[in-house]
This record gives sequence, C-alpha cells and structure tokens, in this order.
Amino acid sequence: MRDDTIIKATNHINKVLFESKYRGQPKIAIILGSGLGPLTSQVKIDVEIPYKDIPYFPVSTAPGHIGRLIFGKLDKKDVILLDGRFHFYEGYNGQDIAIVLRSLKVLGVTYLIQTNAAGGINKDFRPGDFMLITDHINNSGTNPLIGKNNSDFGPRFPDMSECYDPVLQQNARKAAQELDIDLKEGVYIWFMGPSYETPAEIRMARILGADAVGMSTVPETIIAVHAGLKVLAISVISNLAAGVSETKLDENEVLVTANAKRHLFADFIIRIISKIIL
Ligand code: HPA
Repeated sequence: MRDDTIIKATNHINKVLFESKYRGQPKIAIILGSGLGPLTSQVKIDVEIPYKDIPYFPVSTAPGHIGRLIFGKLDKKDVILLDGRFHFYEGYNGQDIAIVLRSLKVLGVTYLIQTNAAGGINKDFRPGDFMLITDHINNSGTNPLIGKNNSDFGPRFPDMSECYDPVLQQNARKAAQELDIDLKEGVYIWFMGPSYETPAEIRMARILGADAVGMSTVPETIIAVHAGLKVLAISVISNLAAGVSETKLDENEVLVTANAKRHLFADFIIRIISKIIL
C-alpha cells in the first residue's frame, strides 16, 4: 500500500486508538446522511476522532454533518460511524472521498452501510418512507475513480453489476419485516447538486428508471465497490422531488423529515447490523 496519504491518515487513527486503549475490531462502517446524525446517540462511544485532526481527511461543511469518526458499539458489534460525509457540491472530488473509504478498508472494515436523505421520484413514495437502494444511476457526468488507478485497492475497470450486496439487502428486508416497516425499494440517481433538480430533470430521471434522487452515496459506493467492500444503502425519503410535489424544495423540510424518523431509522439500522454475521 504505497499511498502516502492513506498511510498517514491511518497511522494517526491507529495512534489515537492505541492511546485510548481501544480494543475493538470494527468490520462495519456506517455513513450517516443528512439529519440522520442522531443515530450517534444510540452508540456506545469508545473513541471519537474529528476529521480535521486526521491528515489528508476532508472536512464536511454540509448542514447536519458534524465531521468526526466515532468508534463504538451498536448491538454489541464494533462499528465506525462517519458522522458527516463529503459531497462533490462542497468542492470535494473522488480522491478526497477515496482517502476516507480506503482508510476504512486499511483499518479492517469490510461492510459499508450508507444512509441518506433523498427526494422521492416514484409516485408511490411518501415523505418519511425508507427505500432500500437496489441499484444506482450515476448522472453526474463524472466518476470518483477518474485519475491514476490505485491497484492496491482495486482494478482499473471495476465491475458494478452488483454494487449493493444481495445478502445485506436480504438482511434489510428481514429487519424491515420484523419492525413492521413498509420498506420501499428502488434505484437512486445521483445529481451532483447543490441546486435541486428541475421538474424536467426529475421527469428525465423517472424515464431513466430512477425512484429517488440525491446528491451523495453513489461516489462512496463506487469507491467502496472498487475496494471490495460490501455495500448497503438506505434512503429516507425526505421530500417529494421537484415537480412531483406542488411545493418548492427546502433544505429544512429535508432535515425535519429525516429527523422525525430518526428513532425508527436507528432501530432499523441496528436490526440490520444484528443480522450481519461477522
Ligand atoms: N434532490 C436532491 N437531493 C436531495 C433531495 C432532492 O429532492 N432530497 C434530499 N436530498
């Protein structure tokens, strides 16, 4: 592993963990989406490391994203929570996001669970619904793996035919059943943002086969799949996408809906984790 930035980032993380006498071996990392940060209150926190202290780590600037790695326990399993994610609309690129995800891989993570808030395109969806992402469309016109390939992590042309791990998807379906959650499923389309989509863009997205829209998750998935991580991603439908609803889009609505669902969502994620056999 020759990438200096990742060596320096993981050296710092390992040093803090060592000094904190952390004994865990987390194999599951969870990225918390907009308004879903409160999942952190369910975690028994062992060690917290601000992104800003980790060499080469980007620092998240989006509202509702704090910016720290939390090492702790959920359902008696060691996990790493990424409290704060990185978006292209903040000016970050694939290399910035890759440092974070590849550092996780080097730290021993094999499962990546992603959460996000997304706009509902599918007319059967209502704000507050949870959607299991079964596949995605990269509508950004760019790709987070552009640039020299780091073959220590994965191939130049990684296969994307099963981005979202089928076993983890089954775990999510079972967890939803047990909690009486009417789990929706669908395709997530990535628009880079930061402007919300136009009604015409949402009509286009529907024709292309998208069920929900958002400004995150896809770059992380692509980088994680390249590095051989198993990925699960779940959206909270925080609003109906542009033109699907009568009203204008408002970031506050996104955060309020995601926040209103935080307890059920946290229970859901914990139940999914309980089904992962490490
Ligand atoms: N569009 C894009 N991103 C989003 C939306 C949306 O409607 N809702 C939450 N994130």
